[in-house]
Amino acid sequence: MSKKTEFLYLSEQDVIDAGVLDTVKNVENAEEVFALLSKGDYLMGGSNHNSHGIGIVFPKETPFPNMPVAGPDRRFVAMPAYLGGRFNVCGNKWYGSNAENKYKDLPRSVLTLMLNDKDTGEPLSLMSANLISACRTGAVPAVATKYLANEDAEVCTVIGCGPINKFCFQSIVTQAPNLKKVIFFDRTLEKAQRFADWSKEEFGIEGVASASLEKAVSEGDIISIAVSRTAPLYFKDEWVKKGAIVLLSGPAQSDSSFWSNSKIIYDNVKLHEAYVEEAESSGDKQAYYNGVIGGPIYKMIDEGKIQPIEQSTSIGDIIRNEKEGRVNKEERIVFIACGMAVFDVALGYDLYQRALEKGIGQKLLLWDSAYQAINN
Ligand SMILES: NC(=O)c1ccc[n+]([C@@H]2O[C@H](COP(=O)([O-])OP(=O)(O)OC[C@H]3O[C@@H](n4cnc5c(N)ncnc54)[C@H](O)[C@@H]3O)[C@@H](O)[C@H]2O)c1
Repeated sequence: MSKKTEFLYLSEQDVIDAGVLDTVKNVENAEEVFALLSKGDYLMGGSNHNSHGIGIVFPKETPFPNMPVAGPDRRFVAMPAYLGGRFNVCGNKWYGSNAENKYKDLPRSVLTLMLNDKDTGEPLSLMSANLISACRTGAVPAVATKYLANEDAEVCTVIGCGPINKFCFQSIVTQAPNLKKVIFFDRTLEKAQRFADWSKEEFGIEGVASASLEKAVSEGDIISIAVSRTAPLYFKDEWVKKGAIVLLSGPAQSDSSFWSNSKIIYDNVKLHEAYVEEAESSGDKQAYYNGVIGGPIYKMIDEGKIQPIEQSTSIGDIIRNEKEGRVNKEERIVFIACGMAVFDVALGYDLYQRALEKGIGQKLLLWDSAYQAINN
């Protein structure tokens, strides 16, 4: 008995042709994933089923001339997942990141996604995943905007004008019907100005490049933060106005009063429990906390100043009406989004299905019949 196995290869252009840039569909896809997370119909890595992924940590020094050494934003990470519901598929996102890539005309990180049959393990599709990852990252705070922002929010503030926040903003726009103005802040003012011009041209929304972080934060009803890990951002509690939602897709520091006086909603409480578990076994909890978005919050939980993570709310529970979200117009909400492979798998799966329907991509042969199956 022999079985031929082929899989579909999708280049970045194929992924675009299959519709990865359809922001509205991406937000719907992310919302569906959040509901599955809340039901528990998923698995990620590690014995706790909730690990973000496993990375190769490069040493500061090495006697081996070819071995990579630690550098800004330099890492390799594998992020495996199974996702249930109508997806019912396994997958793994695998990426390498290096801040030096900008000098080689490459994006900071280079990502691929493999989808596999959940029973046999055969590959179904290998695809370029830079846009998948960016689009799913952008869709996540847009779901939070839909459920947690005040409906009459008029001003969006975008802090960090890199590729991730571009996708965040263009997704948030789809869920904030009353936006009249967007303020862009970046440590490089020209980048903020380019985003402001883009906002006007693409969405017809007045865009302003701000040189003042304080002004940018204090005007925002919806504040999307995605700055590089290499240069942490600090904003003051008193700058954030009543009723605002702060969407954290990248790390940021603030006063302890900001975290304790805001309602914290997580993308997935269990992911954050796993982060804390990993921090505890890492040997240097503080260093671990410093490297993750939820770090400042975990630290305050350890100090007993904020309620424990396990008593907190995941957005999927709000989507499924299991827990309450915003209870009044005045409260400030922080939404923590750390990125999970289940979102890459979900979006990758939908693109794979659309590619099959439209005849996009290239079939590649794994084997006509597996050598080991015949010779067993
Ligand atoms: N949550 C997720 O799922 C997820 C997924 C991918 C990336 N990320 C994170 O999103 C963040 C942004 O990613 P990216 O690829 O756009 O990064 P990037 O480095 O390409 O761009 C970040 C932008 O932020 C600006 N910046 C950096 N520090 C700043 C500061 N202190 N104040 C103001 N501006 C500052 C930079 O000038 C740059 O324009 C990173 O922290 C990354 O790790 C999160």
